[in-house]
Amino acid sequence: MSGKNIVVTGGSKGIGKAIVETLAAEGNRVAFSYKSGKEASIQLADRLSKEGSFVWAFQADVSDAAQVEEFISFAKAKLGDIDVLVNNAGITRDKSLFIMPKEDWDDVIATNLTGYYNMTRALIGYFMKSKKGCVVNISSVGGFTGVGGQTNYCASKAGIIGFTKALAREVAKTGVRAVCVAPGFIETDMTAKMNEKHLEEIKRTVPLGRLGSAREVADLVSFLISDKARYITGSIFTIDGGLSA
Ligand SMILES: NC(=O)c1ccc[n+]([C@@H]2O[C@H](COP(=O)([O-])OP(=O)(O)OC[C@H]3O[C@@H](n4cnc5c(N)ncnc54)[C@H](O)[C@@H]3O)[C@@H](O)[C@H]2O)c1
Repeated sequence: MSGKNIVVTGGSKGIGKAIVETLAAEGNRVAFSYKSGKEASIQLADRLSKEGSFVWAFQADVSDAAQVEEFISFAKAKLGDIDVLVNNAGITRDKSLFIMPKEDWDDVIATNLTGYYNMTRALIGYFMKSKKGCVVNISSVGGFTGVGGQTNYCASKAGIIGFTKALAREVAKTGVRAVCVAPGFIETDMTAKMNEKHLEEIKRTVPLGRLGSAREVADLVSFLISDKARYITGSIFTIDGGLSA
């Protein structure tokens, strides 16, 4: 069977969904998780399978280590071998720090940071033993520019950058790679939550003059997991239309 066996978190919508669609269309086999959006996830897997791809959906909260173990067992049963992990599931709970409840801090860190730890921890030993594997972590430009009202989110995304760099150094000798993708403003439900005036302001500040599409992020992920990227590890790839240039 050609193609790679890939695990993606948060594939029900947005960037994760585009990653699942793009990688499946390229002949890879994909098992993806979601927290909510059960119907949409099952429909996505069914549609892609009818189109001739091999795609499976599984409900698992990445912040819960036990659910992550169940998801990995499911993925191994469906895929056999696993070549790639794409950590994508993420949330926002935006608020100025002076009124941010501890719960909003904890929720964001649990999903965006501990969730990446849980998934990577569950697979990294397997990758090292196989002497191959690639971890792609979806961070955010906010992780290095900072965004007012997002101290929790930016802390989690900055954390992922450090996590990826450390991991890349740790596992390089075993042939495993770890890379980070840092999108700017991408058209998904996450940005749809922002008010229109703010979005218009953002578009004016993006040199390319528009938000990015989820597909454009997926195309970058597709390159990074490919053999064309075999000498790339520990790197952060910004995809933001020039916003942070
Ligand atoms: N949209 C943007 O502009 C943007 C910019 C930079 C970075 N990102 C990052 O890209 C990733 C995807 O963002 P998006 O805009 O597609 O978001 P989205 O809200 O459209 O989709 C998020 C996905 O993650 C899943 N998810 C959420 N919490 C989960 C949990 N605890 N366990 C398992 N799955 C969970 C959801 O079910 C959904 O499938 C996130 O990590 C986000 O931080 C997005």
